[in-house]
Amino acid sequence: MKTMKKWNWKQWPVSQESTRHQIEQVLHSNRWAITGYWTGQNSMEQQFAEKFADFHQVDYCLPTTNCTSALQLSMEALDIGYGDEVIVPALTWVATVTAVLNVNATPILVDIDPHTYCIDPQKIEHAITDRTKAVIPVHLYSSMANMDDILSIAQKYDLFVIEDCAQSHGAEWDGQKAGTLGDIGCFSMQHGKVITSGEGGALITKRAEIYKRLDRLRADSRARIQKTDLRFGDMEIVPNEVVIQGNNHCLSEFQSAILIDQVNHFEEQNKYRNEQALYVNEQLQKISGICLQTKYPKNKTITIYSYCIKLDRDIIQKTPQEICAALIEKTGLGTFFVHPSYPAVHQNPIFCPWTKKRYPPEIAKTESYWRNLQFEHAERAHEETVVFHHSLFLNDREHIDYFLECLTSILTDAG
Ligand SMILES: Cc1ncc(COP(=O)(O)O)c(C=O)c1O
Repeated sequence: MKTMKKWNWKQWPVSQESTRHQIEQVLHSNRWAITGYWTGQNSMEQQFAEKFADFHQVDYCLPTTNCTSALQLSMEALDIGYGDEVIVPALTWVATVTAVLNVNATPILVDIDPHTYCIDPQKIEHAITDRTKAVIPVHLYSSMANMDDILSIAQKYDLFVIEDCAQSHGAEWDGQKAGTLGDIGCFSMQHGKVITSGEGGALITKRAEIYKRLDRLRADSRARIQKTDLRFGDMEIVPNEVVIQGNNHCLSEFQSAILIDQVNHFEEQNKYRNEQALYVNEQLQKISGICLQTKYPKNKTITIYSYCIKLDRDIIQKTPQEICAALIEKTGLGTFFVHPSYPAVHQNPIFCPWTKKRYPPEIAKTESYWRNLQFEHAERAHEETVVFHHSLFLNDREHIDYFLECLTSILTDAG
C-alpha cells in the first residue's frame, strides 16, 4: 500500500479569495449586525436571505443564529408550546429534539426506516394523539425522509410539517428542494455543514403570515421597516406592529457575508462531491458485508452530508468504533471526518432533558422514561454504521483511492 502523507487531506470549510473579500466588506462597512444602523446599503443578512430564498424559489427566508433556533422559532411561529406534542425521529442530532423541549412542548420519538435512516412514515400514525401539532422529519446524512407519505399523514391529521434540513441543503424531492415541501424548512450553517459560516442557520417558508411572526420572533419582537423610510444612522429593525414576544436570534453581518460566498460555491462543490461519491459507491459495492444508505426514487438530487456504510455484523465482525479507530490510525483523518452513526436520541449521553426545570413535576418526564424507550432501528444504527464527512469527497481521486484502499483492508481484515 502507498503511504499518503498524513494531514494532506482537503480541509473543511473551504475558503477562498472571495470569502476574504466578503469579510473585509463587512469589516469596513460600519454595519456588523442588522441591529446596527442603516449605512445606505442592504445588510449582508438581507442579501443572504434573498439569495437563499431565490435558491429555494420561495418568497421568504429568515437567517437565524443556528438551526436549533430556526426550529424553535418555527414552533413558536406555529403557536406550538406547552401541552402540545411534536413527532421527531429517534435517530437525529439531539438538537431536533431539544428544540421541541425549548418551547415546552413534548417530543414524541418515532423509529427510523433502517435503509434510509430517516423517520419511518408507517410508524408516525401510531404516535399521533389529540395533542399532536407537528411532525419534524429530518433529512438525515445523505437521504431525504419520505415526504409524500409524511405530507399525506400531516394533511389527514391536520399537522404542521417542519423539515429539519440541517444536513440537506440543495437536496431535492421530486424536483422540489428540501425545506420547501413542508410549512417551514430549517437549515444549519454550523462548521461541518455543506454551507457554513462556522455557526449559523436559516429558515424558509412560502407563507407570508408565518414569516411575519418569524420576523418578529428573531429580533426581540422588532420588525424590519421599509428601506424608503430610512436615513443614514437609522435603525432598520424597529418595534413596529409587535405581534409576538421575540428573543435575539440574529445572524451577524460577518456570518451572512460568508454565507453569500458559500452559496455561490455550493452547486459546484456538490456536483464534485456527488461524482466522487458515485465512484465510491461502485467501489464499496464490491465488498461483501456492507450496505449503502438507500435513497427514495423521488430523492434524485442528493446532497452528501455524511456518507454512511452499514455493516452486516455477521460478515464484518468489527464494531464501527473499531473500524473508525483503525481508519483514523491509517489515514491520519480525525474523528470529525470518520465516526460511528449518532446514538439513538434516548440513548445519547448528551440527551438529558431531566436536568432542566421545564414542566411541572407531575408531567415532567424522568430520566428512566427517556432511557427506557426502545427503538430497534435507531438503536442498531449506532452499532452498525460508519459515517464519513462530506469533505472527504472533495479530495482528488488519488486521495479517494487511498482512502478506499485503507477502508477495504480494514473491512476485509487484511489491515
Ligand atoms: C439534523 C440536525 N438538526 C439540527 C441541528 C442543529 O443545528 P445547529 O448546530 O445549527 O443548531 C443539527 C446540527 O448538527 C443537525 O444535524
